[in-house]
Amino acid sequence: MAKAVEAKNNGENENGIIDLDSMTVKDLKSYATERDIDVPSKARKKDIIKLIKENEGPEIEDPSENSDSEIEEYDDDQELIEAFNDLENEDEIEDSDFEDVFVDDDDSNDEDLEVDSIQDSSTNSLDDCIKAVKSLPGVGEATLNKLIKSGFNSLEAIAYTPPKIIQEDSGLGEKSTAKLIKASMEKLGIGFKSGEEIWEHRKNIARITTNNKEFDDLLLGGIETGSIIEFFGEFRTGKTQIMHQLCVNVQLPREKGGLEGNALYIDTEGTFRPERIIQMSEALDLDYTKVLKNIVYGRAYNSDHQILLVKDSANLIKEKNIKLIIVDSLIAHFRSEYIGRGTLANRQQLLNQHLHDLQRLTDIHPDLAVCVTNQVSSKPDVFYGNPTTHTGGHIVAHGTTIRIFLRKGKGEQRIAKIIDAPHLPEGDAVFTVTEAGIGEP
Ligand SMILES: Nc1ncnc2c1ncn2[C@@H]1O[C@H](COP(=O)(O)OP(=O)(O)OP(=O)(O)O)[C@@H](O)[C@H]1O
Ligand SMILES: [Mg+2]
Repeated sequence: MAKAVEAKNNGENENGIIDLDSMTVKDLKSYATERDIDVPSKARKKDIIKLIKENEGPEIEDPSENSDSEIEEYDDDQELIEAFNDLENEDEIEDSDFEDVFVDDDDSNDEDLEVDSIQDSSTNSLDDCIKAVKSLPGVGEATLNKLIKSGFNSLEAIAYTPPKIIQEDSGLGEKSTAKLIKASMEKLGIGFKSGEEIWEHRKNIARITTNNKEFDDLLLGGIETGSIIEFFGEFRTGKTQIMHQLCVNVQLPREKGGLEGNALYIDTEGTFRPERIIQMSEALDLDYTKVLKNIVYGRAYNSDHQILLVKDSANLIKEKNIKLIIVDSLIAHFRSEYIGRGTLANRQQLLNQHLHDLQRLTDIHPDLAVCVTNQVSSKPDVFYGNPTTHTGGHIVAHGTTIRIFLRKGKGEQRIAKIIDAPHLPEGDAVFTVTEAGIGEP
């Protein structure tokens, strides 16, 4: 304690590094005066720090590295109030930025659907998750704020994310991040699990109907949660149509094959059509205005933007009761932006990270399904090898991922075949794409 007081007076922490954040306003002012830095008399703490940093350059320690001891001290109530106001203002800016990215018609809190959607009672509320993060050792208001803003709003999100990503996204230091991950893992009891525990986990997997009995049977009841499911095939094989249908079906009551949840649609090709949602909703006797309201839409304009949208979605899942995330198409931007042999490795690496971001969402939320589409030509390119055989070229390599190969049949008929899913039976399912959506032949 004596050390801390001492450190405050001369601005040095116990390692002899100058830590401006730990100094009082008075000390900061005299520190600045000693160095001929002009400080306006009414300047606030953070303004003084900024002025000093501008004058002194980078040798002053980054406060984010120091978040273990970040219980900030304020000189008086006024400064404390100002600090809180600053935090709130930052939040507002974040929110408005976010609105630009995701288009969600429903500003007025989700009105409950007749499709009986919206409230999720099976898992902890967002508030509970945030409380758990707050209870981790070393997490003060500032760290909490950084974590939440970068989408790490639950113990699971922290525990399952590689440290480097937490550091990059939140701005926290290496040591703080390592401590947070360790503490989150301990609290969650992550380590070896028995087969029985894994079975308990898998028993909670729920399924969304595809609207086609044979297709559902092939998938042991429908599109399962907790996995990334990849639909791949040539153009017009029904990938986008299936994605639309699932956005509607996820909202259905559980006894009708839904998850009573909402959908998040990340559209990279601009092919999302509300008109199709309306047609599909009407075919199921649903109120299409409510169905549309429960779809959160994000248009990704390039691969960076696509990656960002997925990272941002972490904060939406609880808040909007998202049970299905669509990325249609997963690959298109990457394919067009990274052309030529030399860039292939880079592309694969980015894509791999992107898939891991998606995979992590399903690890954190076992009641979430993630569906992605991927166009392949009849002559499968270097990207995939032969799509119907297992080759080492798959970018989607995670064990829980299911790949579904689609091809055209006669007229409106399409054929689905499961590839690479150890727990699913072999075989084809024939379905149709009509005005009413996915259906029986
Ligand atoms: N309103 C509709 N009524 C009937 N069939 C439709 C309707 N809209 C689309 N389809 C069918 O869906 C097909 C297009 O499928 P979809 O858009 O899912 O292709 P895709 O596999 O996503 O192709 P791409 O790789 O080009 O994105 C059309 O060829 C048509 O058969
Ligand atoms: Mg499509």
